[in-house]
Amino acid sequence: MPQLLILNGPNLNLLGRREPSVYGAQTLADVEALCRDTAVRLGHTVECRQSNHEGELIDAIHAAAAAHAAGTLIGVVLNAGAYTHSSVALHDAIKGVAVPVVEVHISNVHAREAFRHHSYLSPVAAGIVVGFGIDGYRLAIEGLARRAGGA
Ligand code: DQA
Repeated sequence: MPQLLILNGPNLNLLGRREPSVYGAQTLADVEALCRDTAVRLGHTVECRQSNHEGELIDAIHAAAAAHAAGTLIGVVLNAGAYTHSSVALHDAIKGVAVPVVEVHISNVHAREAFRHHSYLSPVAAGIVVGFGIDGYRLAIEGLARRAGGA
């Protein structure tokens, strides 16, 4: 497995078309290109995945944790979309393993509807990046690289 996993959850495949006033005009492909460029600049390899299914996100975290235990993966950048605000299962998945997960949100969820103010992921995240647009993914990768001692 590559050294970094970028995991995007539900509806993030719609980036660029979905509420551009909130999420911007850039597409998921643009996000993934930014992540690849950032990782390569820091000397890391990266895998980008997106799923609209909670169980697939959980499976990906378990696989990432196994790679982390094997010493091949430094961490996960996770934008869980709306599952952030609803998923005890994702909370438990992250809590149950040892891989560092950085929670990212493109928008400032705290400046939006009240139901977006609570995150089930924040208490178990290694770090949180909120409200910087897609640049948040770059910041999260840089944070994980620094945390791993590589940048
Ligand atoms: C989001 C914020 C969530 O509240 C929302 O459900 C998303 C995207 C963000 O990146 O700002 O799907 O995670």
